[in-house]
Amino acid sequence: MDQVAQIREKIDLVSLVQEYLPLKKAGRNFKAVCPFHNEKTPSFVISPERQIWHCFGCQKGGDCFTFLMEYEKLEFPEALRALAKKSGVELKESFFQTGLSSKKDKIYVLNRLALNFYHYVLTKHNAGKKALSYLENERKIDKKLIETFALGFSPKEGNALSNFLVAKKKYQKGDLIEAGISFEYRGQLMDFFRNRVMFPLFDHRGNIVGFSGRVIDASSDGGKYINTRETLVYHKGQMFFGLNTAKEEIKKLDKVIVTEGELDVISMFSQGYKNVIAIKGTALTEDQANLLARFTKNIALCLDQDIAGSEATKRSFLVLEEKGFSTTVVLTPNGKDPDEAIRIDPVSFKKALKSDISIYDYFFNNAFASFDKETSSGTRKITEELLPIFMHIGNEIVKEHFLKKLAKELNTSYESLLREIEKIEKKEVAKDEIVIPNKDRRERTEILEEYLLALIIQSEIPLEIFEYAKENLKDYKFNASSIEKIVGFLDVYFKTHKQFDIKQFSSVLPQELLKTFDICFLLPMPKLLEEGQYQDEAKKAAKELRALFLKDKIKFLSQDLKNKEKDKKPEEIKKLEEELSELIHLLSTSASVIQ
Ligand code: CTP
Ligand code: MN
Repeated sequence: MDQVAQIREKIDLVSLVQEYLPLKKAGRNFKAVCPFHNEKTPSFVISPERQIWHCFGCQKGGDCFTFLMEYEKLEFPEALRALAKKSGVELKESFFQTGLSSKKDKIYVLNRLALNFYHYVLTKHNAGKKALSYLENERKIDKKLIETFALGFSPKEGNALSNFLVAKKKYQKGDLIEAGISFEYRGQLMDFFRNRVMFPLFDHRGNIVGFSGRVIDASSDGGKYINTRETLVYHKGQMFFGLNTAKEEIKKLDKVIVTEGELDVISMFSQGYKNVIAIKGTALTEDQANLLARFTKNIALCLDQDIAGSEATKRSFLVLEEKGFSTTVVLTPNGKDPDEAIRIDPVSFKKALKSDISIYDYFFNNAFASFDKETSSGTRKITEELLPIFMHIGNEIVKEHFLKKLAKELNTSYESLLREIEKIEKKEVAKDEIVIPNKDRRERTEILEEYLLALIIQSEIPLEIFEYAKENLKDYKFNASSIEKIVGFLDVYFKTHKQFDIKQFSSVLPQELLKTFDICFLLPMPKLLEEGQYQDEAKKAAKELRALFLKDKIKFLSQDLKNKEKDKKPEEIKKLEEELSELIHLLSTSASVIQ
């Protein structure tokens, strides 16, 4: 057995997934709300017998390796190493050399060297004196904070770091460019960051994925902040600044405070608030919400209170609500960002932090403060602002509460607000319809075929149900060739086996059929608890399939008949007519089961 298989054998998928998600038993399988797409009812299923998982919502699936790769955003070799460690399998050297993961590792190592360099310049070198005094005096960031957040300074000279990494550390030009640390200009290797205070960005596992650099004086070119460009390991909108230092505290307090920028996190940290992270000036993305959901579902948004900040709050709200977060908003004194607010008056800031309000109240108050509810245009603006938000409130009771509150305040009825929401929903559905992928509207036959096979292999009496289905299908030919083939294998299997052993059967199936088999084996069933119902369902499905099949045949034959009539071939016409009437008869005897 190779090492990969060995590890797979040793890891129990159910316990592995359980470390990340709460699982519920569902028949012979387990299910959970899928962590890889937005949903409320669980369609993520795990089979302990097959040691596989599949989500029927987003179609992702696989084994312990793919789960970890998806969940922790790892490449295969990284997942392999993590699970090897867990299972006590010692990996052979060859696993460490190749592939994407070694490229990523190289970037992490380079970023670490860059960080040490920047940090040295800031704390020990003459070239960092000005930046150090800026941080200490103007931003009130002391040496201890500089250590905690591993801050640094990138010197003004164009290529100090690049030279150091090439000459002293023997790196290639290409490596530095791939890491986003350097770029090429007129054949010269240049440092990407120059004359900036450097904030390293760690992922939650402690790898350095990139940097942001802030100017310290007007002489620097470019914006106030620049960030590492997209690299193999730096993806904008997937990380937070400060999560690595904050995550334990976030778990402990079961709450996270989300701010806009690096300096907000650091200032709050210095005041003892350690469950604070920064989104770095954008709205929260779905990836970020998924990442946060691992640590807490309680979030306080402490964003700028300007137009951009309130837009970010609105967009973040939709993502957070869908994921089931409980969200509040902190209104800082005079709308200052946390860093400024703390420097002006830490006591008032603390008070503001303690009196965070629910995000629904925040929207409510904002709308009524911006528009005049006494005028008809004001009323319209308020509803235009609030209804598209309130209609997305996940909890029905909370939703009704806020809609009733809105109705009361606007002196209108709850019902008319509901009607307005319906209008908005219709518009949204119309918009949605264009983008629904084909797979959501699969052919009825395809769904039925899958369902029928699922009924057979998930039941306690697969042989009986199989025979039952066979009898009802008669001359049926499956549309999905993989299902047709699996049914063929079942037929052979049942000739020599009375019991259905999943492990044994799946080991005789050719590799290319396993996926379909597993999907059917995991397919969530409506609550069919009694065996009798499995049988009835299988019969219904088989009959409907056959009827659809006959209908298709009839359609085809009638077309054929028309053509033949044109060609005037009496003999062939007669044969076709007979065939057709036979089919119509067959259909009419089975038609009773189709709705
Ligand atoms: N930001 C960024 N790129 C920019 C501007 C901002 O990534 N071009 C991010 C940074 O993480 C920054 C945050 O957005 O910390 C907030 O930006 P801004 O409001 O401009 O920060 P200020 O509070 O004005 O600046 P600071 O506190 O750093 O003096
Ligand atoms: Mn600021």
